[in-house]
Amino acid sequence: MDEALMSRFPAVSFLEARARRRIPHFAWEYLHSGTGSDACVARNRDALNDVALMPQFMKGELSPDIRTELFGVPYAAPFGVAPVGLTGLMWPRAEQILAEAAGRHQIPYGLSTVATEAPETIGPLTRGMGWFQLYPPRSAEIRQDLLARAKAAGFTTLLITVDVPTGSRRERQVRAGVSVPPKITPLSIFRAAIRPAWSVATLQTGLPRFRGLERYADSTDMAKMAEFVGSKLGGTLDWNYVQAVRDEWDGPIVLKGVLDANEARYAVDAGVDGIGVSNHGGRQFDGAPAAITALPAIVKAVGDRATIIFDSGVRTGLDVARAIALGADFVLCGRAFMFGVTALGPRGGEHVIEILKADLINNMAQIGCATLDELKERLP
Ligand code: FNR
Repeated sequence: MDEALMSRFPAVSFLEARARRRIPHFAWEYLHSGTGSDACVARNRDALNDVALMPQFMKGELSPDIRTELFGVPYAAPFGVAPVGLTGLMWPRAEQILAEAAGRHQIPYGLSTVATEAPETIGPLTRGMGWFQLYPPRSAEIRQDLLARAKAAGFTTLLITVDVPTGSRRERQVRAGVSVPPKITPLSIFRAAIRPAWSVATLQTGLPRFRGLERYADSTDMAKMAEFVGSKLGGTLDWNYVQAVRDEWDGPIVLKGVLDANEARYAVDAGVDGIGVSNHGGRQFDGAPAAITALPAIVKAVGDRATIIFDSGVRTGLDVARAIALGADFVLCGRAFMFGVTALGPRGGEHVIEILKADLINNMAQIGCATLDELKERLP
């Protein structure tokens, strides 16, 4: 662990503050915003803060063990990197930085369909820790090819994201001029120029491209790619689609973005292995319940038949402990990792892992838990 870095940035909140000063306004708004009035983002945080755990003290010597296993793969900690799209807009080569850090620390790295690097580039860096996120292509041919490429590149687990039936309005992003391709205006040039570290890194790497998808649109032109992503990916899914993917992917499948316990039941009946309890970090529907509030009913409905993976609002190791106490098997973090990379560049991924691990271990010790399972006994 880098002690000097830890004394400057002992929590993700300090990285968040630095990130805001280090990347242009449009990149910050893309990373930080929710949708509507950001009520769901706040609700995620408030609801997590409201989960209290009851300490027990008379446990003798204990050193918390945070290792776990998911779908037969051992992980060094019960958290991983959530898939994040248009990654290179926020920090060039963010995927490489996070995939390498995840591989080194033996935690999962989720690569988005709309990341700015291709599965072939990122898969090998994850050392078997890669999960691939599918924004479901409408064309079966493209879907099959994408799945085959992800498998060949070493990704073990598939996340199918279901909570983007249509693009969200994301008013803050609209105001900030977030667009694909980036709009080059005097204001956007000014906003980039006053963030020299980002600008230099972006000039060295080139503007972000959807590298994983370029072969299907037969273009590297971002305007054409944006049109391709908008018209050929995602949209409303149904159980037939999930069935088709089930037939084509011979590894674990997690449905990401489920909040309703009945949908979780149908999903497990349809053959998925995991449920990703998530509201997309409050970025899709501002009226959604806090993801942590939806978690217990889903655990009750399918926790004995499926692996439960939680995300949305997690910023600390304590938050990870809270989700596990409420029945999650595993936790993903989106913005926390991107705050790390945008604040610290190449050292950012590793540092966020160190923060979350240290905070989880410390909080488990505070409440007398030697194992992750014991967290479930600490709900008051
Ligand atoms: C996301 N998320 C996301 N999810 C997904 O399945 N595919 C994607 O391409 C993206 N892209 C994306 C971009 C950005 C900038 C963010 C912040 C998030 C959602 C992500 O996987 C996860 O659900 C949330 O980030 C969880 O909330 P926190 O941890 O950011 O609070």
